[in-house]
Amino acid sequence: MRIILLGPPGAGKGTQSKNLAARLDLSHISTGDILRQNVKAGTELGKEAKGYMDKGLLVPDALVAKMLKDRFEQLDIKKGFILDGYPRALTQAKTLDEILKDKKIGIDLVVYLDTTDKVIIQRLTGRLVCSACGLNYHKTNMPPKKEGVCDACGAKLFQRTDDNEETVRKRIEVYKNEVASLIKYYQDSGKLHKLSADGSADLVLERIVELAQGK
Ligand code: AP5
Repeated sequence: MRIILLGPPGAGKGTQSKNLAARLDLSHISTGDILRQNVKAGTELGKEAKGYMDKGLLVPDALVAKMLKDRFEQLDIKKGFILDGYPRALTQAKTLDEILKDKKIGIDLVVYLDTTDKVIIQRLTGRLVCSACGLNYHKTNMPPKKEGVCDACGAKLFQRTDDNEETVRKRIEVYKNEVASLIKYYQDSGKLHKLSADGSADLVLERIVELAQGK
């Protein structure tokens, strides 16, 4: 199964992708995570991407496309995947089509997780991420058992540099500028399903699993 998760920042794409990947034994491809790993490792890509990410802007298409093509060369892709954070614009959807065409595979399902700006801001300004395994927490919605420490691996939790309110508002604006054409593109393909991202993470997961199992 090959799934794209679309939705505004903070809709829960990362949280749901990780849970869904475990549940359906799929690979999780997050362009945001790959970019952050590059920033952390101080690669040329990371150095170039950081300025855009800290401002809440999209990293230029050519950089992200190259990164994605490299990711698609890894073997775990063969078992199926969930794509989180890509595509974010029509140009990216077309690049993805080309990559998939080369690999002679297609997308089965596009899930659009929808929520309000109020929910997004509450979720993102309270998000905490594990510095080792990348698991997501939230100060009030999903707090770790021990403050500042990951339940799963015991590493320290941190707040992303782009999770301050000003940058979150910019990310929402960038998202809104691009999303309509992307939604139309996948609606026309008959693969898009819109779901509410509100309610508990478990509840949202069940909504997605139900859709995926109906495919
Ligand atoms: P990226 O990392 O992809 O960020 P995003 O799209 O802004 O999405 P987020 O990771 O912020 O949110 P999410 O939907 O994954 O929510 P999460 O599950 O964490 O991208 C970051 C940056 O990288 C971009 O701004 C851009 O610069 C660059 N980039 C990435 N991809 C790119 C591309 N294709 N092209 C160009 N540039 C690109 O949940 C959020 C919080 O809410 C968590 O704390 C979580 O615990 C909590 N939560 C989740 N679900 C629920 C729930 N149901 N109820 C209560 N709380 C919940």
